[in-house]
Amino acid sequence: MTLRINVYSILYTTLFTLCSGFVLISSASGAGSHLELFSLGESLVYQWKSTVLLNEVDRASKNVGFFINGKVTVTSIWENGNKKILKIELTDPKLHVKSRKNPIPEGFVSHTSNLDSANNKPFLVLWLNGVIKEIYFDSSVPLSIRNIYKGIASLFQITSLDKDITEQGISGICNVTYTSSALNSVTKSISKCMSPDINNLKQTNNILGTTTTSEQEINYILDDSNKFPQSIKAKELHQIFLNAKEEFGGSIIAEQEFKLIENKQSSTLKANSFEGALNEFSAKQKPLNKETLVLELETASLQNQKKFSKEVDLLREQLESDYLGSSKSAKAFIQLLQIARVSGVEDISKALNSKKNSNILAQLYDTLGYAQTKNSHKAVMKKLPLDSEEHIDFIERYLWALSFSSHPNIDILEDLLNKYRKYSTIPEKIRDTLILSLASMARTVAQSGLHDYETSKVLRNVEETIINGLDYAKDEDRYVFFNALKNLQSPSTIPNILGYIQNGTLKEETLAWRAIKSFNKQYWDNKILKQAEKTLFQLDKKHDTSSRTLAVDIILGAGTNEATLEHLLNFIAGKEKNYEIKQYVFQSIKMLSDRNTKLNELVNKIIKRNKMLNNYSTLSPRGLSTALARDMFKGFSSNGSLISIQEIKSGIVKRGVVDVILEKNNIPKELFTLGIFSGGLTSFMSNGDNDNEEPDESATAGMELTVLGTQIRPFVFFDGQGELMGHVWSGTASDMTPAFQALILWQDHEDYIRLGNGFTAEVNFKGGLSFDLSGKISISLWNRNAESLIQKSVGLMSIGSIRIPSSFVRSKVEFEASVEPKLSLEIDADFSSNVKLCMRLSQPDCILKHQISKLERIPDSNHQIKITSTRMLQTPGLTYSLNRKNNEMCSAIFS
Ligand SMILES: *[C@@H]1O[C@H](CO)[C@@H](O)[C@H](O)[C@H]1NC(C)=O
Ligand SMILES: *[C@@H]1O[C@H](CO)[C@@H](O)[C@H](O)[C@H]1NC(C)=O
Ligand SMILES: *[C@@H]1O[C@H](CO)[C@@H](O)[C@H](O)[C@H]1NC(C)=O
Ligand SMILES: *[C@@H]1O[C@H](CO)[C@@H](O)[C@H](O)[C@H]1NC(C)=O
Repeated sequence: MTLRINVYSILYTTLFTLCSGFVLISSASGAGSHLELFSLGESLVYQWKSTVLLNEVDRASKNVGFFINGKVTVTSIWENGNKKILKIELTDPKLHVKSRKNPIPEGFVSHTSNLDSANNKPFLVLWLNGVIKEIYFDSSVPLSIRNIYKGIASLFQITSLDKDITEQGISGICNVTYTSSALNSVTKSISKCMSPDINNLKQTNNILGTTTTSEQEINYILDDSNKFPQSIKAKELHQIFLNAKEEFGGSIIAEQEFKLIENKQSSTLKANSFEGALNEFSAKQKPLNKETLVLELETASLQNQKKFSKEVDLLREQLESDYLGSSKSAKAFIQLLQIARVSGVEDISKALNSKKNSNILAQLYDTLGYAQTKNSHKAVMKKLPLDSEEHIDFIERYLWALSFSSHPNIDILEDLLNKYRKYSTIPEKIRDTLILSLASMARTVAQSGLHDYETSKVLRNVEETIINGLDYAKDEDRYVFFNALKNLQSPSTIPNILGYIQNGTLKEETLAWRAIKSFNKQYWDNKILKQAEKTLFQLDKKHDTSSRTLAVDIILGAGTNEATLEHLLNFIAGKEKNYEIKQYVFQSIKMLSDRNTKLNELVNKIIKRNKMLNNYSTLSPRGLSTALARDMFKGFSSNGSLISIQEIKSGIVKRGVVDVILEKNNIPKELFTLGIFSGGLTSFMSNGDNDNEEPDESATAGMELTVLGTQIRPFVFFDGQGELMGHVWSGTASDMTPAFQALILWQDHEDYIRLGNGFTAEVNFKGGLSFDLSGKISISLWNRNAESLIQKSVGLMSIGSIRIPSSFVRSKVEFEASVEPKLSLEIDADFSSNVKLCMRLSQPDCILKHQISKLERIPDSNHQIKITSTRMLQTPGLTYSLNRKNNEMCSAIFS
């Protein structure tokens, strides 16, 4: 019985809603859908108030902000058909700011300001069936005031009772919904405003980007005959925050209120035509300027007054190499970058030429690489001709910065591509870094959506240059082009890469697999997966072990089905002689199933039903290869994890990867990958347990880094027997040596928000990172052991500000967050009897500092308020527990 009643009531409500919806829709689409407001000669006098408040994202603490109040008189002074001219006059505007004394209820007190003496004149609005087509201002009215006028006028743009439309308003072209809930009440909701003039620097990789959410609503109460607004209330809320840390950011509230206090008759214009009416009106004052309703951006533009060379003088100490890896250096970098973006060639050149800056040149070139302006590039190219041997290190730093940049300038890309093609005298090291950088820049440009391969010749030329380079180069000269393809990630190159997987040398095949692995999983089609199985199981020919382990990564990464998984498990339990590969597969499956319960259940199901697998000993193969994932931190907006995968051959890391990954909603983003490689060392370390019959390679070892998806030129510790012996005897590699140092801009967001009441909000979020990676390796032939230590220090700084730069009041909310995480990887190997390998991965304590400041100032006055709060969050240090076998070997080595 209850059920039936419910069903009826639901039916009833649905029908009712449908009917009333129908009534509204039909009235809206009928002839009288727009409102007949503002009768000729009628003057409406309103009490008016306009407010802006800034706060943290959650708005839980004290805000800063201001309001202006006064009287607004709207008079319909002329009409012809559906065209009307409204004269709007603001009288006695008065600024109110937050007082230090904080009086009840809202803490505002009135304060003198430039507003009191600002030129304030009546202005005209051309009103066409509710749409504001044009606004006419007295030319002497300053920008800040004109924008306030536009804020006022925009609320009188009301075109309908019920409708979804796109409308040009003060904030640009927006989606607008009008709904009428009662006879004399209309609500206007505004969303998705776009304006073509705002060059939004939007992040291409979402987790490192920012999100802006906006809501805006205006409520109108009309008089009973729907002829004029009795009251208007507008409210909007914007929140801007970092995707990876949603509590870092700020919020803006803007409000406007109108309350009718008087309704009277006024004189009108006599002219017959619209132009005549304008002339008649302006005869009494200065000429009128015509504008649209869209707010003209107001910017602080203080940076234009600063000079790059002067700023370098101030920041010189913090920019020293000694501070790399600290947040101090990351902060100086962000400050300098903002000025570099607005500096001229001569000013920049002055800093680059100054003797005083000789110790910080590398950091200056980093900064200029992220500036990405015509001027910055010109100044750098003047100092660093690409064919100059003497500046190799600086050129590399500049090129790295260009390649990590989230908004590459396509003109710089084109210039460098032309230089690459034209100059044959560029030293090899620079050529290598250059082609890797061109590839990265092209990838980021293509991902930005501003250009694509179909329409951009530059992008096509980059791809063509890499493919031709690959085809024409011989032997080892080819390798760099595989890495370039890895950076480029252009799907149309996949067939070329597959060609080298099938027909290339063992080393080429490995590099080709690495390139394939860098592509988004969606490109790993059946052809690639089939080839991966052929490679892993050596169905076609013998493959390098690294190709085989990369094939495992791809098969498992693609998301395994039951059959593939069973095949892999049988492989572990099967007859394959290379136990390190089996261990690698075992470790990889274990790593994935530890973090994925569905996969774990599937693995258990397969093992239980298969007699051969259902035996613990067959499923724990011998071997030292490891694959493991560990949580670095768990956060509300993102999780951080560390993945360490080490392919071991004869007790030595042949291909090792330590990955730092940031993840949000199951979408991972690799921030850094530290790769370790070695080859040809087996004969040194061999204890007779060598199960590989691969051709002799020359002895080599090194490190390679992938930063934000960009693989950079590998750092080779030694190449060839002779060099190795040299290192061993001289001990050159056994001191801590910096392998990679750089300043990196990991976040770059600049935006403007046009507030409905006429104020501009300027948003600027920057994330800087100061990076130092150093390492040492020592090998003792005498004791038959080797030690290596790789240490990564990172200084991370994130600075964000939202400011309202008006000429009579300045408000700002700002946050600054910093952390200095460190990571060290120690690998000790002992070859004296059975190979023992101990890996230790650890991170010391680190502290996250988060400071929020809210500021308010009235220009040309003493009024200033600053509210600051600081929070600290400590993450305790830890040594990652790797696995039991590793722990046992560590105890054995250090006993
Ligand atoms: C905005 O309105 C346009 C036109 O009505 C529509 O095509 C578009 O999908 C709307 N956008 C959003 C995000 O709702
Ligand atoms: C590999 O070489 C074989 C034999 O030379 C040839 O038939 C095949 O097309 C080549 N594959 C690719 C992808 O180039
Ligand atoms: C497990 O495998 C080992 C080695 O292959 C074998 O000796 C043993 O009998 C197996 N145990 C079971 C229960 O099948
Ligand atoms: C972080 O990981 C936990 C589980 O380990 C998950 O529940 C949560 O959704 C993740 N957070 C984000 C933001 O992805």
